[in-house]
Amino acid sequence: MFLLKKMSLCVIAVAIATAGVAQKKTIDQKVDSVLKLMTLDEKIGQMNQYNGDWDATGPITKDGDKQNQIKKGMLGSMLNVTGVAHTKTLQEIAMQSRLKIPLLFGQDVIHGYRTIFPLPLAEAASWDLPLIEKSARIAAVEASAAGVHWTFAPMVDIARDPRWGRVMEGAGEDTYLGSLIAAARVKGFQGKGLGNTDAVMACVKHFAAYGAAVGGRDYNSVDMSLRQLNEVYLPPYKAAVEAGAATVMNSFNDVNGIPATANHYLLRTLLKGQWNFKGFVVSDWGSVGEMINHGYAKDNYDAAMLAANAGCDMDMESRSYIQHLAKLVKEGKVKMSVIDDAVKRILHKKFEMGLFDDPYKFCNTTREQQQWNNVENITASREMAKHSIVLLKNDAVNGAPLLPLSKHSKTIALVGPLVKAIRENLGFWSYSWPDDTARIVTLWQGMQNKISNDSKLLYAKGCNINDQNKDGFEEAVNIAKQADVVVLSVGEAPDMTGEAKSRSNLHLPGVQEALIQAIAATGKPVILLISAGRPLVFNDAADHVSSIMYTWWLGTQAGNAIADVLFGDYNPSARLPVSFPRSEGQIPVYYNHYSTGRPAKNDSDVNYVSAYIDELNSPKYYFGYGLSYTQFQYGAITLSKTNLKGNETLQASVEVTNTGNADGEETVQLYIRDIIGSVVRPVKELKGFKKVWLQKGAHQTITFNITVNDLKFYNDALQYNWEPGAFQVMIGRNAGDVQTVNINWSR
Ligand code: BGC
Repeated sequence: MFLLKKMSLCVIAVAIATAGVAQKKTIDQKVDSVLKLMTLDEKIGQMNQYNGDWDATGPITKDGDKQNQIKKGMLGSMLNVTGVAHTKTLQEIAMQSRLKIPLLFGQDVIHGYRTIFPLPLAEAASWDLPLIEKSARIAAVEASAAGVHWTFAPMVDIARDPRWGRVMEGAGEDTYLGSLIAAARVKGFQGKGLGNTDAVMACVKHFAAYGAAVGGRDYNSVDMSLRQLNEVYLPPYKAAVEAGAATVMNSFNDVNGIPATANHYLLRTLLKGQWNFKGFVVSDWGSVGEMINHGYAKDNYDAAMLAANAGCDMDMESRSYIQHLAKLVKEGKVKMSVIDDAVKRILHKKFEMGLFDDPYKFCNTTREQQQWNNVENITASREMAKHSIVLLKNDAVNGAPLLPLSKHSKTIALVGPLVKAIRENLGFWSYSWPDDTARIVTLWQGMQNKISNDSKLLYAKGCNINDQNKDGFEEAVNIAKQADVVVLSVGEAPDMTGEAKSRSNLHLPGVQEALIQAIAATGKPVILLISAGRPLVFNDAADHVSSIMYTWWLGTQAGNAIADVLFGDYNPSARLPVSFPRSEGQIPVYYNHYSTGRPAKNDSDVNYVSAYIDELNSPKYYFGYGLSYTQFQYGAITLSKTNLKGNETLQASVEVTNTGNADGEETVQLYIRDIIGSVVRPVKELKGFKKVWLQKGAHQTITFNITVNDLKFYNDALQYNWEPGAFQVMIGRNAGDVQTVNINWSR
């Protein structure tokens, strides 16, 4: 008996070693040879993921002996374990398990790891795909150097409701832009491909339609037609999968009554079926067990059965799989083939990552240290931040636009609760390293770095972000009166957006609106900076201050980037990736809505049309909107043809001229409307955009090539196709400012 056991262990050791190194074997063959050696318990172990909430040196966790479970092969992955020292300690324990299958370490690397970049929504405002990809690349380089194999990003959930706190984590309201950004982020994270030491696995989340939670309340239900699901919400996930995303995460919500975690249609029919996704699916935190609360599973046993059968391969933290799957298999309720498929998918990624060859591949302390304060990464973060700032307003004061500011001979009053804020600049989903305070550039610091000796900065906080205390107003007003210009920095607290941070009131919190009024009443020119993770409502301020910059949360280099734009060292180029509402009652307000049977002709048309009697229909700021320090003039649209047939290509062109006094970048946007469809079509849909940098006085012809692929949609039978007929082609600055021409497209 003893001999037999010893022999079989020898065979296993040889088999695993061969599985790892044999050159000729494909990964599929290697996976199969490992799978053959695994007991049912070990297989289920691979499908189990725990949070790593313990000290690397302490053996016992608060909810069980995880180290012992790793040794027994009961764990495939851990999250929230970072740093070479920590991950190495745990990997060493995994190497003591019978089959020595390496652990995967996952982490929410959402907008940077060590160097924090702007919020994902802010980055989306750049509409700059190469820069967005670079941001994800740098995050992956830094995270992988610290032992992280896998990021739970990108979040690609389309969000039309700014009450939802996680709007900050995605790319906004538009399917087309969102899909491009989803792919760019996946490419950034995964770099030249899994297997490179600086590539982390991407995890597309949250599958699916998490951003459509009813009322914008996080974790709430999602109920929509399959057509809308397929047309508006699913394309970014699909784009991310097509870009090679290694993994997908379930969403917490139910979709049309079925929790996403056990949604056969989403996971088996679409993702693993029609989309041919070869990676693995991880649940969201506890989402398997939460199906009991949904009223979909009776208990954890039931939940494990439903999730595994529907195609959820790994259970994050609910412990339903580890506790119940073995019994479910023995009782025939989950087939062995379901388990094998899940385990193969997980092992495949571990092989692709090269972890079987070297489980400590990501445990190089020299590399970790090199990335700790990498100057190039910090420079890239500043670059991304500059490109993310949206100039919303820039009125003339004394005959000239207030911005950019001069660096000379000015007294500038810096007022507001965020002027000297430090950690706030990082926003939600970022790390607080011990030396953060020294690294983060505040607005105050950024301004000091920029002004010349003959200028002077004054400061008053004015008020806190979110209380009712106005004691600081007097000082702030006095400071403002002594200055030539006031830069007023207000916003939300950074933890007012993010997970579980839905708000029903989108006004500036506390007494900040009153502070703006008090400062504006001094008559001094005011530049308002708004920091937030979502579109806020600030009509009064918008109508009474001269200049407004939306600065979101910009990350480690926030202060420098804001100063770059304020003083014109960078001419702002960002465009809103979401519509900004005038009031909460208007939500959801998004540009690609349907016409309805009684469309309002304009904002003053309210008589028995689809409108509010107490609010305009238009947003405060349109999707795609953003100003520059220069002006761009558009010539008329020219078309290569107006009557097209079948597979022809239409060229739609427009000449754009920089008529202002600065070099600058314009984002030329193409929208299309299908006038009559077998199902109603949106009033316009973004189908292309081009960013063009023009020196002052220069002009360029921008051409869009349009084919029938740009006309396709899901019909009532969920077939994706185009229908001949009349279309409008629109080109312009934003969704509310376009020129329109008509075309016909026949079969
Ligand atoms: C979030 C996910 C995240 C996970 C792990 C969940 O609460 O919804 O987006 O990746 O936690 O931290």
